[in-house]
Amino acid sequence: MVNIKSAREITLMKEAGRVVGLVFKTLEESIKPGMSTLDIDQIVEKTMLDNKCIPAEKGYYGYPASACVSVNDTLIHGIPSNKIILKEGDIVSVDIVANYNGYMADACRTFKVGRISERAERLVNVTKQAFFEALKAIKVGNHIGDVSSTVQKYVESNGYNVCREYTGHGIGRDMHEDPAIPNYGKEGIGVRIEPGMALCIEPMVLEGRKDTRVLPDGWTVKSRDGKLTAHYENTVIVTESGYEIITMYEGEE
Ligand code: MF3
Ligand code: CO
Repeated sequence: MVNIKSAREITLMKEAGRVVGLVFKTLEESIKPGMSTLDIDQIVEKTMLDNKCIPAEKGYYGYPASACVSVNDTLIHGIPSNKIILKEGDIVSVDIVANYNGYMADACRTFKVGRISERAERLVNVTKQAFFEALKAIKVGNHIGDVSSTVQKYVESNGYNVCREYTGHGIGRDMHEDPAIPNYGKEGIGVRIEPGMALCIEPMVLEGRKDTRVLPDGWTVKSRDGKLTAHYENTVIVTESGYEIITMYEGEE
């Protein structure tokens, strides 16, 4: 069942989203070679707590940290560690969920560590642009399949693959609500898009083959072929006339 959010609920989700944006702004200014992925987790946790939000990932199905921090061939759910040290040229995806008074906002950015290769740069840019292409399909009366097929077409036309095993989703009181929003599929199918829906659209892109594997830690998802991966996500509220992105900071490109 898809929950339609009231004005009051949307106000609370926007505050969660504001804090998610603030975390990204802070990370944009702090991510440097030599940092560990646990250092990133600590910045996420502190920024959320300082702003009256709870890091919702911590304890979610037993997840042990406040952020998912995924480097290079790790696509999603990388567990922060003081043994994983960022080096110049890496790309690092930071996926976070803030809970403000019971309401969630979820987003992810893939950050560059120092100067990165053109190859990595193109992957990061296409992944981000896939989200903005998908937004064009967010119109009342369209269907989730229109969003999914837009992501898939854009990514594949750029020579990459979308992940099949994990999807975007609705969000609200729960981190994951209906509808599921796959990054692949057919136009015209699935749930009809309505005002008041809160949707997490999140292209997860593999430079090489589409296959992934989960490490024995039960969380870390990597590309099977060891090639690069990237992830970009925002929480979006559907409005009568279009949509509102609630997890970007002011001035963010
Ligand atoms: N934030 C992720 C998403 O985009 C989910 C993280 S799983 C968790 O849906 F266990 F880390 F919370
Ligand atoms: Co999400």
